Amino acid sequence: MHAHYANRWSSRAFDSRPVADEVLYTVLEAARWVPSSGNGQPWRFIVARTEEERRRFASFIRPANREWSDHAPVLILLISYTLNDNGTPSGSHAFDEGTAWGTIASQAALLGLNTHAIGGYDRELAREALHIPAEYELLAVIKLGYPGDKSALPEALQEREVPTGRRSLNELVFEAVFLG
Ligand SMILES: Cc1cc2nc3c(=O)[nH]c(=O)nc-3n(C[C@H](O)[C@H](O)[C@H](O)COP(=O)(O)O)c2cc1C
Repeated sequence: MHAHYANRWSSRAFDSRPVADEVLYTVLEAARWVPSSGNGQPWRFIVARTEEERRRFASFIRPANREWSDHAPVLILLISYTLNDNGTPSGSHAFDEGTAWGTIASQAALLGLNTHAIGGYDRELAREALHIPAEYELLAVIKLGYPGDKSALPEALQEREVPTGRRSLNELVFEAVFLG
């Protein structure tokens, strides 16, 4: 495995330095190319970068995720189109969108950027604030930015500024049949 995969982790320490358009759009371009069921490409990315846009996002992000997310110069809400071409519900849009998120995290890390996904936000408030129609599901807010100084974080969060562990492959992989 390339060391890149194990070296990525979700830091909370962001620098407020802006992310250039070219860098942000390189990250989103990588996500654009991921595979999806029937090439449906259900992902949509709502980006907040200005003070006003980030304030609007802050209005629906839960306080516990704000004490550090407010430092991030870019916030991206990942939403997903939930219908197939014929109007029936898609069984795969969230799976496809997860591929896009994983690729955003990976491409960002390759460019020296942190990403941190947040599920802790109010979906209904976000839907209202950003005028998102019912046929799109809100999946996660992604914080994106350059690594910052962890000493700016509350003490309890500074202790969490280390890579997290993972289950071993022995626990995850089953030869031939599932033995869980
Ligand atoms: C969909 C999703 C939602 C998450 N929501 C939150 C969140 O609300 N707050 C938070 O601090 N971290 C959140 N995380 C970050 C995870 O806790 C983190 O990815 C996980 O612990 C693995 O750590 P690592 O990314 O540093 O390897 C979320 C991650 C994902 C993928």
